[in-house]
Amino acid sequence: MPENSDTPDLPKHVAIIMDGNGRWATERGLPRHAGHRQGVSTLRDLLREAVDVGVKCLTVFSFSTENWKRPEAEVSFLMTLLQRFVESDLAELHAQNVRVRVLGRRHNLPRKIVGLIEQAERVTADNTALQLQVAFNYGAREELADAASRLARRAVDGTLDPASITTEVMDAELLTAGLPDPDLVIRTSGEYRISNFLLWQSAYAEFVFTDVFWPDFSIDHLRDALDAYSRRDRRLGGLTNRSEPGSVS
Ligand code: IPE
Ligand code: IPE
Ligand code: MG
Repeated sequence: MPENSDTPDLPKHVAIIMDGNGRWATERGLPRHAGHRQGVSTLRDLLREAVDVGVKCLTVFSFSTENWKRPEAEVSFLMTLLQRFVESDLAELHAQNVRVRVLGRRHNLPRKIVGLIEQAERVTADNTALQLQVAFNYGAREELADAASRLARRAVDGTLDPASITTEVMDAELLTAGLPDPDLVIRTSGEYRISNFLLWQSAYAEFVFTDVFWPDFSIDHLRDALDAYSRRDRRLGGLTNRSEPGSVS
């Protein structure tokens, strides 16, 4: 049974920085790509269970704009992995009623991959059980710069008054337009940084960091993170959100 009813403090949108594939593999004397492969398997398992714990919107960071700095062989393996993921998992995701979107720049991705991404988005567009965003070739600074560039062009064309650019106008210009902001951002592998992920959207997110490497991340780790989230007091700049005696809310 979905746990929505038992856990009123469930986040509307969970975002995960899936980190630690390389170290997971190295620890086992395996090549880094074995960690990436295992990481996809972890994601596949988690997706099967995410709906049951009540997550309706999930964004996962799988390749950053900075990851191009890695050796060519690793980059090309990661490209192939996305391609294989779409090819082998699209039917199951569609059957699970998952809507898939890929967030990131597309112009410098191989044409074949762009075609697959478009196909995955088209096929699953009307699905409603879980909204899955795969951040691939994604960088938040690039996303913000691209949004600024489009708005500036409209200002130059005379179709946008610069004085009318509000935070809502910015929201609508981002790759996440229409999605709720992430309430919970999880990062695995014991790193305590955001690495250019959803900078704008995470302004008031709660962060949970875990030492577990991504390939070892399980549904129980997700439950732990959701538990930690439910104990946070999200004041959003105001006073306490908890109904405690004497609190002014
Ligand atoms: C995360 O794992 C996947 C990507 C960034 C593509 P890493 O490949 O960063 O693994 P570590 O951090 O080197 O262990
Ligand atoms: C962040 O991990 C990007 C992804 C998980 C895709 P990185 O491994 O690239 O981040 P840094 O280099 O440790 O900050
Ligand atoms: Mg890493």
